[in-house]
Amino acid sequence: MQIIDGKHIAEQIIQEIAAEVSQIVDFGGKRPHLAAIIVGHDGGSETYVANKIKMCESVGFKSSLFRFESSISEQELLQFVESLNNNTDIDGFIVQLPLPQHISEHKITEAISPSKDVDGFHPINVGKMLIGLPCFVSATPSGILELFKRYDINICGKNCVILGRSNIVGKPLAALLMQKGVDATVTICHSRTPNIKEICLHADIIIAAIGQPEFLKADMVPAGAVVIDVGTTRVPDTSTKSGFRLKGDVDFVNVAPLCSFITPVPGGVGPMTIISLMKNTLLAAKA
Ligand code: GUN
Repeated sequence: MQIIDGKHIAEQIIQEIAAEVSQIVDFGGKRPHLAAIIVGHDGGSETYVANKIKMCESVGFKSSLFRFESSISEQELLQFVESLNNNTDIDGFIVQLPLPQHISEHKITEAISPSKDVDGFHPINVGKMLIGLPCFVSATPSGILELFKRYDINICGKNCVILGRSNIVGKPLAALLMQKGVDATVTICHSRTPNIKEICLHADIIIAAIGQPEFLKADMVPAGAVVIDVGTTRVPDTSTKSGFRLKGDVDFVNVAPLCSFITPVPGGVGPMTIISLMKNTLLAAKA
């Protein structure tokens, strides 16, 4: 059994992106610039955005953070998004989700110019990804594919079972895995799938992305499977400084001994998602 070290791979890629940025700047090019919008004071969002801004510094990007109180109206936020669309110094930007209930996430996402949508959430980018055209691919699915590549895990013809059908992980990941050239056979399971255990027992690769801590148990995993854990549920833990710790969707202690490869939580998929955002920003800047 091999533990997939997402943190280590992410560090390698940080060096690769930083080297490319240095080269661009040395040759008189513009330093890539990522902006982030955060609305309100959601604890998880604060951490994620802070990590994204910190990562910009590590790879040599310029970054800007725009904060708004949750009282901002949808119209005001739409206007601000439009101002970033028109700001030629900013190569790409994200609006951190979730947004307050009175603001439509769909409307805001669709207002972002597809050429600056480095999250890959705009329907134009999602559609292009589905039919295999160049686009910004959302961060978690592309981070997972990068892990397969770097660990030389063969996906062609394999039975990939995805647990979860979210718009930002399950659905785009299914599309990428079945793409020509990747060539997996994909099954998606969700809350209404009656025989998840049986389906998992026929899998070569299981990707758990349902947000239920320790959902995937040892009796659901065939020997030799590759298991990827996308879960990051915060559970209270008084022994940590933050007062919580992250729990994955996989019962790691009991599942790991069965696997050929497995990602831990934290330190598996998580570090790769921010890397994918940086890669998309570099692409946007080069375009
Ligand atoms: N909220 C949780 N994950 C993400 C993400 O990848 N991008 C944005 N914009 N919001 C999120």
